Amino acid sequence: MPDFRFDTVTVIGAGTMGRGIAHVAAASGSNVRLVDASVEAASAGRDRIAGSLGRAVAKGRLEQVEMDRILLRIEATADRAAALEGADVIVEAVPEKLELKRTLFAEFAAKAPAHALLGTNTSSLSISSISAGTGVEDRVIGLHFFNPVHVMTLLEIVKGDLTSANTVAYAQAFAERLQKEAILVRDAPGFATSRLGVLLGLEAMRMVEEQVASAGDIDKAMTLGYRHPMGPLQLTDLVGLDVRLAIAEHLHAELASPRFEPPQILRDMVAAGKLGKKSGAGFYEYEG
Ligand SMILES: NC(=O)c1ccc[n+]([C@@H]2O[C@H](COP(=O)([O-])OP(=O)(O)OC[C@H]3O[C@@H](n4cnc5c(N)ncnc54)[C@H](O)[C@@H]3O)[C@@H](O)[C@H]2O)c1
Repeated sequence: MPDFRFDTVTVIGAGTMGRGIAHVAAASGSNVRLVDASVEAASAGRDRIAGSLGRAVAKGRLEQVEMDRILLRIEATADRAAALEGADVIVEAVPEKLELKRTLFAEFAAKAPAHALLGTNTSSLSISSISAGTGVEDRVIGLHFFNPVHVMTLLEIVKGDLTSANTVAYAQAFAERLQKEAILVRDAPGFATSRLGVLLGLEAMRMVEEQVASAGDIDKAMTLGYRHPMGPLQLTDLVGLDVRLAIAEHLHAELASPRFEPPQILRDMVAAGKLGKKSGAGFYEYEG
């Protein structure tokens, strides 16, 4: 039997994704060390988990005693070196900056136990470029969770060029423990989710541009005709047009394919400050 352990999970970065990963890891029974650059930031992440659990209790979906148990398992800290010591699984969820992630993985290589699974939650960077030169390339893998982590069941596991079969099996066992459905993807730009999801969004924008139908009707085509829970333009508004534009530009450059060329309407809307829901307007208008 392979030696896959889950007693201690260390999550680096207590932002949107890190706190979500800490939440599900603690709910699965692991002791979690939630690390951020300051204790205040790490504690704020833990407080947000408490808030989310509290709402589940209020709605009768979770017992108070279980909430208390989960929170007791989460330690908020800024001491990264101590948090790496004895960790079984390490998940990095810091901002999407290659140099920052590379520095952290070099530190994991030096300080984490030899058996530990080394995961990155990157949504667009190459796993092989994050792990290059660390000496532990075989143990590094993409663990691409989705927001909100405690609700979304998908875990996109991304295998770098040098990731070992044992590491893939470790990541799959971790997914199972977290009750996530895992898919396995090669380290190709946009993985499976962004490449396909962004393409659908870009085509929907081109259809608005060409006045094929209204935004509302294009979205209905997908929600009612294909049972998508949300239309591609609604989703673009939710994610943010600026975020979508950045991903499209990245994929356009990496895949060298005209399929990912950002439509003019997307560039124009971003330039006009129409970034979607967060700015009050995108393909739809929002109140407040
Ligand atoms: N937000 C999403 O919907 C989403 C979805 C999937 C994947 N991702 C990916 O997850 C990663 C994190 O994204 P996020 O949205 O949670 O970002 P975020 O900005 O909400 O959180 C990042 C956190 O990392 C902390 N941090 C920065 N440097 C650090 C360091 N050296 N040590 C410890 N903590 C540090 C920051 O203080 C911040 O709290 C990114 O790679 C992103 O691409 C994001």
